[in-house]
Amino acid sequence: MKTINIAIDGPSGAGKSSISKAVAGDLGFIHVDTGAMYRAIGLFALRNGCLTPEQITERIDEIEVELKFIGGSQRVMLCGEDVTDYIRSPEVSMSASKVSAVPAVRAHLLDLQKKIASENNIIMDGRDIGSVVLPHADLKIFLTASAEERASRRYLELQEKPDCPTYEEVLNDIRRRDDNDMHREIAPLIQPEDAVLVDSSRMGFNEVVEKITALIHEKLD
Ligand code: DC
Repeated sequence: MKTINIAIDGPSGAGKSSISKAVAGDLGFIHVDTGAMYRAIGLFALRNGCLTPEQITERIDEIEVELKFIGGSQRVMLCGEDVTDYIRSPEVSMSASKVSAVPAVRAHLLDLQKKIASENNIIMDGRDIGSVVLPHADLKIFLTASAEERASRRYLELQEKPDCPTYEEVLNDIRRRDDNDMHREIAPLIQPEDAVLVDSSRMGFNEVVEKITALIHEKLD
């Protein structure tokens, strides 16, 4: 059976995951957040004493990453442990950005991502989904927003947490991760030529969900 594959790429903090989740829920598709897989490996690197790229490459076969979908929600398993609730800290974000530049890490996750897409109707979000993972996706979307807008949104979310960083720290963090993601040698973040650009800088959450849902219907109907 041919499955429907929608690819959504874009920089950190553009809202890819929450928007993809909402759109997938409306369509009855599975939402696959590939960033969570890199985050799980980032957590592994931190827990094992900030592994270098060489050390991660050496130990790659030990790092079992698996996704489970429970009631439409994705859980990420690392060596059999559900780590979904431990992968959103700024330390893990930065570690994920670093490990995602390691070729052995990308190769390790690629087969799993392709397999999930071949077995399910999915919306998969990440950085290289349209360019590398699903080059023949039914629809590719590049979802972005200005760095300042992404930092403001993230800063608002973090304000409810203890030890909230300043707005400048959040903005610097976003710029550093953009730089890592766009300038790494392997599978850098790019807007594929055949992707539809959606700039959400001046759009509300529901507006973006409606826009992307409409693009999908246009393509599939
Ligand atoms: O989307 P996110 O912020 O959860 O992603 C975490 C890190 O993983 C981010 O720095 C980029 C990297 N990543 C990647 O290189 N390729 C993907 N397909 C998804 C995420």
